[in-house]
Amino acid sequence: MGLSTTSDAAIEQLLEAAIAVTQHAYIPYSHYPVGAALRAVDGTIYSGCNVENAAYPATICAERTALVKAVSEGQREFDVIVVVTKNAGSPCGTCRQMLYEFSPNLRVILADLDGKISSDTTLSALLPDGFGPDRLPR
Ligand code: THU
Repeated sequence: MGLSTTSDAAIEQLLEAAIAVTQHAYIPYSHYPVGAALRAVDGTIYSGCNVENAAYPATICAERTALVKAVSEGQREFDVIVVVTKNAGSPCGTCRQMLYEFSPNLRVILADLDGKISSDTTLSALLPDGFGPDRLPR
């Protein structure tokens, strides 16, 4: 998982996927494209862009687009997500929470639209003491 086992080539591939998907970002309101590439532990990459809506709060972020694509294909465990924006913006709270459900130790890499990495951290660092499935008795 994560830091030691992910090669530079693998990160490069995720960066390319995240940048490529920004071309599909539906952003008539913010003009702020976001691309995400989420890798499941079996190596499959799921990309996602932000999809805005005239009813603004109905907008879905790139990270959650990638996540729901992956989960709806049967994936439940992820090791890394790469997120690209103009200014290497960090995932919003809702995205952090939704990712935490599946992979609290996810590696999170933030980069700009040229692929320049500005942050390489973990979801548990971005969402300390997060509320996860373990908190709920089965
Ligand atoms: N956005 C994302 O896609 N991911 C984030 O984590 C932060 C915000 C999108 C939502 C909206 O389309 C635009 O960026 C401005 O908020």
